[in-house]
Amino acid sequence: MLTSEAITPDRPREDAGSEFTRSLGRAQQCKREAHGVTIIAEHGLLAVRPALEGVIRIKLFAEAAAEDEPDMGTTAAVVGTKTCLPFAVKERDAAYVIETEGATVEIAKRDCAIRFFGGEGQLLACQSPMAWNDSKAVSARFASSEQTHYYGLGEKTGFLDKRGERYEMWNSDVYAPHVPEIEALYQSIPYLLVHEPRGAYGIFLDNPGRSCFDMRGEPDAFTIRTETGPFDYYWIAGPQLKDVVRRYTSLTGRMKLPPVWALGYHQSRYSYMTQDEVLRLARTFREKKIPCDAIYLDIHYMDGYRVFTFDPERFPDPKAMIAELKALGFRVVPIVDPGVKLDPGYRVYDEGAAEGMFCRKTDGEPFVGPVWPGMSVFPDFTEDRVQEWWGGLHRFYTDLGIEGIWNDMNEPAVFNDTKTMDTDTLHGNNGSPVTHGEVHNLYGLLMSKATAEGLERLLEGRRPFVLTRAGYAGIQRYAAVWTGDNRSFWEHLAMAMPMVLNLGLSGVPFSGPDVGGFAHHASGELLARWTQAGALFPFFRNHSELSSSRQEPWSFGPEIERICREAIRLRYRLMPYLYSLFREAAHTGLPVMRPLVLDYPDDPYAANLCDQFLVGERLLAAPIYRPGTEHRVVYLPRGVWYDYWTGQKWEGGRHILAHAPLDTLPLFVKEGAIIPYVEPAESAASMESDVLYLDIHCSGAAYGVFELYEDDGLTFDYENGRYNLYRLAVQEADNTVKLDIGVLHAGFESRRSAWRLRLLHLPFVPRMPEGFDRAETAEAPCQLI
Ligand code: GLC
Repeated sequence: MLTSEAITPDRPREDAGSEFTRSLGRAQQCKREAHGVTIIAEHGLLAVRPALEGVIRIKLFAEAAAEDEPDMGTTAAVVGTKTCLPFAVKERDAAYVIETEGATVEIAKRDCAIRFFGGEGQLLACQSPMAWNDSKAVSARFASSEQTHYYGLGEKTGFLDKRGERYEMWNSDVYAPHVPEIEALYQSIPYLLVHEPRGAYGIFLDNPGRSCFDMRGEPDAFTIRTETGPFDYYWIAGPQLKDVVRRYTSLTGRMKLPPVWALGYHQSRYSYMTQDEVLRLARTFREKKIPCDAIYLDIHYMDGYRVFTFDPERFPDPKAMIAELKALGFRVVPIVDPGVKLDPGYRVYDEGAAEGMFCRKTDGEPFVGPVWPGMSVFPDFTEDRVQEWWGGLHRFYTDLGIEGIWNDMNEPAVFNDTKTMDTDTLHGNNGSPVTHGEVHNLYGLLMSKATAEGLERLLEGRRPFVLTRAGYAGIQRYAAVWTGDNRSFWEHLAMAMPMVLNLGLSGVPFSGPDVGGFAHHASGELLARWTQAGALFPFFRNHSELSSSRQEPWSFGPEIERICREAIRLRYRLMPYLYSLFREAAHTGLPVMRPLVLDYPDDPYAANLCDQFLVGERLLAAPIYRPGTEHRVVYLPRGVWYDYWTGQKWEGGRHILAHAPLDTLPLFVKEGAIIPYVEPAESAASMESDVLYLDIHCSGAAYGVFELYEDDGLTFDYENGRYNLYRLAVQEADNTVKLDIGVLHAGFESRRSAWRLRLLHLPFVPRMPEGFDRAETAEAPCQLI
């Protein structure tokens, strides 16, 4: 806690930036290389490489000489660059111009300032000459205006639009506080999505050391700074926000389809202490008919917090427990932290020590630091062989029937003064050693990679599920993300929306907060409201801390239990809709949970709207996030909207007052929406139900398209074509509803015996075309069977 002393009048103030006095100077030559150009300037080099359509990589080599060979290696974040993109180089009086498909850059000869143009030649971004200081910290300044809005940056506190904020990229274990002025949390995704009236663009800084994004310091510019390592970034053209998200996720990869059970409701607690308690918990869910798919085992399941062990007294027969849970329809997800107890005689420690698997200090001794098990050592995940070893250790879990792993403390968190590994610790990095300070933000990503790839090898075709706390750009390829140690505060329910929305814009479509709040004490009302909101977040897990009040759905009496059950059932009802959106995210990178600005980029009310969100394109949730509140303002963007529950019609483009007693989540659906659903079951197996319902929201003039996806939900067979993809399109005109069902791909034997279509909100009794044998009145929805 700080006292007023922190603002003593004569305390010297930081004046960051003044020392950035060096820069490239004049561009003297533009050298054409196989995959791009290198600008040779007075005081260094600037590599310019077309990386993908609409994406250009810029890498600064401060004070390098003309004959130096630019090192164009990347971090593990980057997977999608192409090296054979055609490009043209032109020399003008004042600038060199590099043109490639979807983007053009212009480098001023005078000072190496850069201008970026989109595919249609429109100017999208202007960068002043990059500058550096004596220790090669680099600063890059981009022009902005009063109309610039900022998104992305991964997992940050604050509102959706990051205008007026400053953030650091340094993966940090922040138990408290998660407040707007916290500049760094567990994830670091150095990617900024800039929205200008003339178009959107993105900047992905591929530097896993400490960096900073400052949208506060100057009224007409934002600045990106690195402290160490290369200044290496990708400029990503729009002009639409969606174009930037698609391109950014081509560059850093997209998630694979998670197993469908991972989309269900998950229950966690630090900790369910014994095998009996876990089994009781599972049975209670089933007795109370509350759907649930996964139960988490926090650190107490282990023997003295040693990873890859079970405590023999608390969990005497994990195999039997897991089998019984499986029979009840539950998966088990145990926690695995990176810290390995320094404990000769403990198999994992012995093996790792013998094979040199742990990070070392400059004196060659392993870095040792305290975490839950006491003094621990940390695997060096920058080495492929360590990843392989760590992945293989998971056989311990898969042999017991486990298919999901929860990676925590992987910033890495250490209980010392700096809260992490010493920055001068060395990483082998497959033969090109680097210090921890240079690659700190990669640790969590590489641990999740080792885990996911290890599980994939072991599960023989079944999809693993990995949940992680720390990560870097590209984390979506390996893991879902939960947003760490929030609290049972209403403010944290509100904060979770912009945080997860920006994670989605940053390429991470599968994320969510601890529902109910991790620390502090939930009330029944908070849990009810949070469960309603959480039901439509991509990742849906209730988790709470050791000393907090219990917050399983039944912890606050029958009324709250009923409300939570209904909210969770809504999730399971919408499972086919959500699963299709997950498939879209895996395919295009567009998030499942979306800020309105993504679909309504020109609507000024959408720019910073983050107390409501879209699920896909046409379902809009506006959770209640304050106590004692039954009403709230909802903004409905242009078009016709319906109350999901009552069918009440609203003309959009305005704010309305929604009434939502404690058992109601304000939920709206737009004309043209096609929403597939099933009767909810006790677990994600409900996906397999016989009948698929399709609600089609008509308005008299609606048009809408939805891609419906199905596969087995469990294996990677979809990668070999074993899936079905339908394109459903509804179009209304002159009292006719035209429904097109196109089969884009048919490779999976569906378990459905029927699709039941409901045309909703029709003002007339329809006549059915040949082949349809039943029409009901328009009042009651019309059913086509
Ligand atoms: C960390 C995690 C939390 C977990 C706890 C004990 O605080 O963020 O989710 O319950 O460690 O493992």
